[in-house]
Amino acid sequence: MSDPDARRVLVLNGPNLGRLGRRQPEIYGTTTHDELVTLCERWGAERGLAVEVRQTNHEGVMVDWLNAAADEQVPVVLNAAAWTHYSYAVYDACAQLEAPLVEVHLSDPETRPEPWRHHSVVRPHALEVVKGHGVEGYRMALDVLAATLRT
Ligand code: DQA
Repeated sequence: MSDPDARRVLVLNGPNLGRLGRRQPEIYGTTTHDELVTLCERWGAERGLAVEVRQTNHEGVMVDWLNAAADEQVPVVLNAAAWTHYSYAVYDACAQLEAPLVEVHLSDPETRPEPWRHHSVVRPHALEVVKGHGVEGYRMALDVLAATLRT
């Protein structure tokens, strides 16, 4: 039974994350995106959150989702994947959010060899950044939101 009082939360995943489990598993792990959806929904329900997980490879779609989240004041967990590092459209979309935003990454981009991964356009707008904990990072991000929304 769904909890009628659960607070709605969006978990938004950017490009290539739909291939989780098959994409460079040595970096991103073996959990598939479908499995991640199930985990996030369960972790959310355990925290009184109605979690909806989405993934897109299209930047404009992500911007539309973030704009709707701003209009509807919905808290967001965002893994913008490669857009994290260069998308000023994602920067501007995140800047409008009033409900809390948590940035999440499966890997720790700052310790990876490519220098372009060391910068994040999401970070200035994020309440917290969770990185390097694999799919568990999404649980940690939902913990941050649950704690923030309680206060
Ligand atoms: C990622 C890290 C990014 O640098 C990369 O482009 C991704 C995934 C992560 O979750 O570790 O696609 O956001």
